Parts: sequence; structure tokens; C-alpha cells
Amino acid sequence: MVVCSCNAIRERDVREAARSGAGCPIQAYASLGRRPRCGQCLPFARELIAEERAAAA
Ligand code: FES
Repeated sequence: MVVCSCNAIRERDVREAARSGAGCPIQAYASLGRRPRCGQCLPFARELIAEERAAAA
């Protein structure tokens, strides 16, 4: 599933970035060499990152 259509970032990419230490969507996107544009995806990306971090804790 695509999380960020501006950057074609998939849910799997965001989850992997979170598991690799990204604590917020900006860090996750930066680790993929991208950055937020319209910002519409940020709430969902934040949720995914929170889920991954909770699962890892
Ligand atoms: S959908 Fe992610 S920045 Fe636009």
C-alpha cells in the first residue's frame, strides 16, 4: 500500500525506516532520500511509526 503518493513511499518502507530508528515521518522519509511535500500522508505515517516503535519496545 502506498502511504505517500507524492513520493511513492510504501507502508513497508515507512515501517522499515521506523525499525531502523526513524522517530517521525520526516526522519523516515529522509532515510529514503525523500521529504514530505503536501503533508497529507503525515498523520498515517506517524501512526505506522508509532506502531512499529511500540512493537519494538
Ligand atoms: S502524500 Fe506524502 S507528502 Fe504528499
